[in-house]
Amino acid sequence: MRIVISLTSACLFVFLAGFNLWSMLTGHGTSARSARFWTQAHRVAGYLFIALFAIFTYFMFLRVKGWQDEFSPRLLLHISLALSLAPLLLVKVLVARYQKASRALLSVLGISIFTAAFTLVALNVAAHFLRVAAPGKVPRGESAVFVVVVLIMAAIALFGRGLRSESMSSGKTLSLDTGPAQNASTQRESLTLTLARVEPQTHDAKTLRFLLPPNATLAARPGQFLTFQWTIDGKLVPRSYSISSSPTQAGYIDITPKRVANGRVSQFLNDHAHPGLTVKAQGPYGRFCFDPARDKRIVLIAGGSGITPMMAILHYIDDLCIPVDSTLVYCVRTERDLIFRTDLEALQARSRNFRYVPVLSQPGSDWTGWKGRLRSEILDREIQRTMESTFFLCGPSAFMEHSHALLRDMAVDPSRILRESFGSAVSTDKNSVLQPGLLKLDFARSSVACTISPDKTVLESSENNGVLIPSGCRQGSCGTCATRLLKGNVHMEYAEALNDDLRAQGYILPCVSRPLSDITLDA
Ligand SMILES: Cc1cc2nc3c(=O)[nH]c(=O)nc-3n(C[C@H](O)[C@H](O)[C@H](O)COP(=O)(O)OP(=O)(O)OC[C@H]3O[C@@H](n4cnc5c(N)ncnc54)[C@H](O)[C@@H]3O)c2cc1C
Ligand code: FES
Repeated sequence: MRIVISLTSACLFVFLAGFNLWSMLTGHGTSARSARFWTQAHRVAGYLFIALFAIFTYFMFLRVKGWQDEFSPRLLLHISLALSLAPLLLVKVLVARYQKASRALLSVLGISIFTAAFTLVALNVAAHFLRVAAPGKVPRGESAVFVVVVLIMAAIALFGRGLRSESMSSGKTLSLDTGPAQNASTQRESLTLTLARVEPQTHDAKTLRFLLPPNATLAARPGQFLTFQWTIDGKLVPRSYSISSSPTQAGYIDITPKRVANGRVSQFLNDHAHPGLTVKAQGPYGRFCFDPARDKRIVLIAGGSGITPMMAILHYIDDLCIPVDSTLVYCVRTERDLIFRTDLEALQARSRNFRYVPVLSQPGSDWTGWKGRLRSEILDREIQRTMESTFFLCGPSAFMEHSHALLRDMAVDPSRILRESFGSAVSTDKNSVLQPGLLKLDFARSSVACTISPDKTVLESSENNGVLIPSGCRQGSCGTCATRLLKGNVHMEYAEALNDDLRAQGYILPCVSRPLSDITLDA
């Protein structure tokens, strides 16, 4: 019985060291959920390993206590290895706790711990087998136990691998050229969020922290947004906001609305949002996402409030210690317009892989950083290995056009540029050449019928009649509102977000569509 326990715990000891090394070298998955799972598994295996180590050390000291003879070379090696494991484990725990970004050091420590554990066990097992084996014969009992234990460990390892690849593939994010089909099939149920905290960022922007309902989860990717139904003066007003917190935070999301002159919602959120406020939100939506499997170097170019999705990406990379080189070029007018300034400076101070490049168009006299408009000189000087980078652009439309043109001049492959537009909604078309008069709009799924004026977008009419189609940019570029047109014709002013496949399936973008005839929507 003793031999079974000893062999099993010895094999478990090596297995745990190997498991932790393997999980560290291969990363922690690409989705927040799988990352959390593997981080927990790594932690539990580590604690179990330390507990076994403490037990083995205790028995080792019992064995050598009162030993009169000189130690044999094998015993000396055994004791030295065991004693060297203690400081290695201590350093590993401290580095993992306080310097988790030092992946190279963690890998070296993991390899050393595994090697020491394996050698310790191999020395003892080999010596034991040699002792019990009669010359020319294999010790049957011990061999059987050894084979069974090794087989069980191998089965556990294979099962873990299966689980891991499953979680990795389910956590895969979109590729650069994925169309809006995802949005067309995205779940349309709302979550009720409760405002828990309001934190001023600048003179015209605040971060609002919303708690998710108990037991609810939001499988957001870093960079995505939610569409909220705000109630202002008794009316529902939909607006989208990017999530500025990391998707690794399971219980809450942050958004950071920046005040827009005469803006209905942004003013309400900056002036009247207090803890306790509840709001319905749909999503997450959007293809403007960081994908650790795809993006090994990233350049984030943000203007004004366009910093918000970048913050989610940077927090996510930091939380999971993803080995990605990131550069943030952040353009605003003056120093007081720099949103998340403290967070970004702190991140720059502690992360060697992050480069923060603020650019001020109207700086004060004591500003020593980049001044003026974003230009090629700044990008040339601040961005390394341009051709290997994925670029994320977010900010006002004019800023994005300008940045995109600069990247084009630098011969950046357009398929490596992702854009998110916060621009204002397409609304009532004053110059509409469409036929005047009221037309009929049927919502097949909601069993709602109403009339629609051709000068209103289909999305506006849907919202006015209580049928909520999820929306994001409201200008035809994100694909969030993509809905199938079952009958009739519409005029689409802009349809960048619809690929040929979706068009062939009859999808339209209600946010930029106006009816040409009576229509029926699959909504
Ligand atoms: C996917 C997505 C994510 C977004 N994320 C954020 C975010 O994280 N933080 C944030 O502050 N905003 C964000 N926005 C913009 C946000 O949805 C609102 O458009 C913005 O807050 C203005 O709404 P409002 O009701 O205050 O203004 P409105 O009442 O709709 O508009 C008032 C006036 O402001 C103009 N205007 C509207 N929107 C803008 C704008 N974005 N910039 C300049 N002028 C504008 C309008 O043309 C109009 O003249 C995002 C938009 C999208 C589509
Ligand atoms: S809401 Fe973005 S395309 Fe319609």
